[in-house]
Amino acid sequence: MKKKVLSILLAGAMALSLTAALPVMAEEETEATTEAAAVDIDLSDKKVGVCIYQFSDNFMTLFREELVSYMVELGFSEDNITLADGANDQATQSQQIDNFIADGVDVLIINPVNSSSAQTITDKVVEAGIPLVYINREPEADEEARWEENGWDVTYVGCDARQSGTYQGEIVVDLGLDAVDFNGNGAIDYVMIEGDPENVDAEYRTEYSIAALTDAGLEVNCLDDQVGNWDQVTAQQLVANSLSQYGSDVEVVFCNNDAMALGALQAIEAAGRVVNEDIYLLGVDALSEALEDVIAGTMTGTVFNDHFSQSHSAADAAVNYLAGVGNDYYIGCDYVKVTTENAQEILDMVS
Ligand code: GAL
Repeated sequence: MKKKVLSILLAGAMALSLTAALPVMAEEETEATTEAAAVDIDLSDKKVGVCIYQFSDNFMTLFREELVSYMVELGFSEDNITLADGANDQATQSQQIDNFIADGVDVLIINPVNSSSAQTITDKVVEAGIPLVYINREPEADEEARWEENGWDVTYVGCDARQSGTYQGEIVVDLGLDAVDFNGNGAIDYVMIEGDPENVDAEYRTEYSIAALTDAGLEVNCLDDQVGNWDQVTAQQLVANSLSQYGSDVEVVFCNNDAMALGALQAIEAAGRVVNEDIYLLGVDALSEALEDVIAGTMTGTVFNDHFSQSHSAADAAVNYLAGVGNDYYIGCDYVKVTTENAQEILDMVS
């Protein structure tokens, strides 16, 4: 744990980014709060229900594994932490939540399948008197406002996806128009591969990556915008189609996450294209495989989606509720821009 925090600090410093250092401070602060809360109560008999929208999601796998190991570090018993796979189906997940309520869990941590179901979920969990920590998929603003208005023990832990989109765009801006505009038409010709369209992370990453380009005065040309649902195989097929349709005009492929960027890379290589030589490729999450590609030059860049900070904050928030301390209604976290300059440091930290 200490080693990880130190590494985050070093990586932040290497990235020479002020914002990169902020999560470290936040993490140390929440840790202190948690330690204070943890000494006050015995966590070993507390029952925790954890709902994950889909176990097969690469990023959420890292998230849930870190969540469990950190909760055990805090003093929860692993036997009392029950994880449920929503299998990307809201009806399945809603049933799992009903079961957790019937089982009388002490706290729920929920990564909703559909953020738009949050109101219904909140109502039944609050009614049952169980504190609730939403993670990763942010409910709508008016839903979040209800928690505060009613003083409910409900919070959201996550990062602001606008920042990750902006960082993706900035990596391309830093390359400069001359390096990117292979076809010489004066614009950045790109393909966008989106995650789940209902998801605010997908919406914001799509919008803000391109906004970073136009804000820097660059002209953009969207050749193709497709939904890959965060999935590698789907993205591989979509990018293969885009490349066969638009050929060498495709200068940048933006993917809303790394799993899809890895699929895109397979399609790019199959099409005989070479990343960083005749096409650029961007993802988000900083999966180990993607970081290795950034180091090798087969991916242009990614953005670290800090699953350590997010899972620890979620666990800390759960402890605070159990200790009767309460939480803010929104608990944020910063992303970190990743290029060849800091990919090795981030890889050392995550692996
Ligand atoms: C995003 C992450 C994606 C996917 C998604 C699920 O934050 O970047 O890879 O895990 O969450 O909601």
